[in-house]
Amino acid sequence: MKRVLIIHGPNLNLLGIREPEIYGSFKLEELDQDLEKLAKELDLELQIVQTNHEGEIVETIQKARNWAEVIILNPAGYTHTSVAIPDALRAVGLPAIEVHLTNVHAREDFRHHSYVAGVAAGRIMGFGSDSYLLALRAAEKLLSASNE
Ligand code: DQA
Repeated sequence: MKRVLIIHGPNLNLLGIREPEIYGSFKLEELDQDLEKLAKELDLELQIVQTNHEGEIVETIQKARNWAEVIILNPAGYTHTSVAIPDALRAVGLPAIEVHLTNVHAREDFRHHSYVAGVAAGRIMGFGSDSYLLALRAAEKLLSASNE
């Protein structure tokens, strides 16, 4: 079974409560359940981590080196500020898919820049929770393409 690590960054633990008009009314646990269900269909093994701490994202990426084959991550606010997160992705050399619930380019200017974008295999944004489900399908495609 192929192994995929999913990282939810800061404040995503508050989905459902946090600005529902922007992020939707679903809870993170519901999204995680949908991801687990799709992972079963796609025959993927998931590890899902949520943290509000930049250093913990870096450590989770570092540890993934010995386990994951693809990383799906929503760095949330750290997308626009963190150099350490893309450095960690470069260091482990695993393909990463950057995900956002919202289309960050349709929002405030400070959200238009992503430090992760240049190191990601691809980016999916603007589809709410479906951004993650699409990313999981993209991860499966990446993995089956790398097997050919
Ligand atoms: C977000 C977009 C970021 O700009 C914001 O800071 C978030 C969530 C998204 O999923 O749309 O926390 O990553």
